[in-house]
Amino acid sequence: MPDVRAVIAIGLRGQFGLNGRLPWEGHKGHEFVADVARFFALTRGHVLVMGHRTFVSVPGFAFEDREIVEIHSFEPPEKVLARFPGRVVFVGGGPAVYAAYARFIRHWDINRLPYDGEADRWFDPAWLIAAR
Ligand SMILES: NC(=O)c1ccc[n+]([C@@H]2O[C@H](COP(=O)([O-])OP(=O)(O)OC[C@H]3O[C@@H](n4cnc5c(N)ncnc54)[C@H](OP(=O)(O)O)[C@@H]3O)[C@@H](O)[C@H]2O)c1
Repeated sequence: MPDVRAVIAIGLRGQFGLNGRLPWEGHKGHEFVADVARFFALTRGHVLVMGHRTFVSVPGFAFEDREIVEIHSFEPPEKVLARFPGRVVFVGGGPAVYAAYARFIRHWDINRLPYDGEADRWFDPAWLIAAR
């Protein structure tokens, strides 16, 4: 089993996604810019697994220095994770993917950003205590 992790950002009320993008995309405040930079620094050299909508939102340059893998709901999380023994695997979302993979995530890195606008995807605190 790999070392399974998550690095996510949420708004003040758990806002998580909007129209397939981050709700605060385009915000120029230093917290938002630093969050994106930190995400790419932490995941560099590692594996990122994610659902289709998140996968298509990843900028092209991100594929150069990390292994980004699109996953599907028919694939059992155990089987997906077993493909990466000894690696660090970041679960990259979206919400249904976190719900399915939460029980394997040992380390959560959650950045709470100063955003309080709309969202159509939400963080669920139940992910943090999902039993195996
Ligand atoms: N704030 C953050 O840190 C953060 C992090 C990640 C994503 N997001 C946001 O979340 C949103 C994307 O989430 P989304 O719900 O729209 O789409 P998504 O989860 O990225 O993609 C949806 C697809 O994931 C696939 N999938 C793979 N494994 C699955 C599983 N075990 N259970 C269910 N589905 C699975 C399904 O495709 P198949 O039909 O092929 O199985 C499903 O159609 C975006 O707005 C994105 O920006 C935010």
